[in-house]
Amino acid sequence: MSAARFTLHRLAARNSQSFVRSTQVPTPARSAVACFSTATKTLHQQSNNATARPSTSTNDPETHFGFKNVPEHMKEAMVRQVFANVATKYDIMNDVMSGGIHRLWKDHFIRTLAPTPGTKLLDVAGGTGDIAMRFLDYCKDTHGDNSAQVTVFDINPNMLEVGKERFSKTQYHSTSQVSFMEGNAENLEHIPDNTMDAYTIAFGIRNCTHVDRVLKEAHRVLKPGGRFMCLEFSKVENPVISKAYDIFSFDVIPAMGQMVANDRDSYQYLVESIRKFPPQKEFATMIKQAGFTVMGQGYEDLTFGVAAIHSGWKL
Ligand SMILES: C[S@@+](CC[C@H](N)C(=O)[O-])C[C@H]1O[C@@H](n2cnc3c(N)ncnc32)[C@H](O)[C@@H]1O
Repeated sequence: MSAARFTLHRLAARNSQSFVRSTQVPTPARSAVACFSTATKTLHQQSNNATARPSTSTNDPETHFGFKNVPEHMKEAMVRQVFANVATKYDIMNDVMSGGIHRLWKDHFIRTLAPTPGTKLLDVAGGTGDIAMRFLDYCKDTHGDNSAQVTVFDINPNMLEVGKERFSKTQYHSTSQVSFMEGNAENLEHIPDNTMDAYTIAFGIRNCTHVDRVLKEAHRVLKPGGRFMCLEFSKVENPVISKAYDIFSFDVIPAMGQMVANDRDSYQYLVESIRKFPPQKEFATMIKQAGFTVMGQGYEDLTFGVAAIHSGWKL
């Protein structure tokens, strides 16, 4: 084994040790913001180390983690570590960081999906079940339907645990309407071909290493006529609003992180990871390349393009 490759193996091993440590539940006194910040600071240090020793092997390509390049095989563990750390505070964190706007986006996302009675949904990167809960509520409130089913699928057991706990306090507890499955969006190996009416992924796909593989798997598991829908941070096109959004993102958010959590780095990482995701048109092209048929331009901007809903049909 070459010295460079040995170093990368040691980095990967250190990552997995950090991941084990990270599964400890943060003390209640720590805010969600501080929790996220600590995880991300560690990851920044690790990714800095990783980029200082570039891969020498063509079998070990690089990908991005924020604006930094890391060996592809390390990204999954790094993303896992972030979400393992934030799991118990994830829902509060969403409200803190978006000022509650994520709730409006998610409500609109489910209204756009407009599931019919009996819909079978796979919610990938489903985390704590925010989309799943809205889906079941929509089916019940709109159609009086209690035959719709959702599988919350996520790579992170900590996030799924929070979701299970949350559902255990609802009317959906001990019904067959919700189930949880752990796995990687890039390989839905336990889900047979042509079995889902709908596939959703909200704020999850930008964390995946190979977006093309995620889309291919989505296409495989959907029934003919099934619908793919993605809610993700996107690109603000209006130059005036884009400038204001950039200032808010790169100056205000990290500064807020510094003030609130004594950690600028994690907020810097957040805005960087959002900027690394392909803009609307490029992502719509990727969705088409995966075999989906899109209507019109294939997406809808939310809040000037801060987020966007992409949609495609398996025909
Ligand atoms: C920002 S959270 C979004 C959770 C939820 N969809 C929501 O909108 O509240 C991103 C989720 O993606 C999950 N995730 C990241 N990479 C993944 C992958 N490769 N496969 C499946 N889930 C993944 C994380 O564990 C995390 O729960």
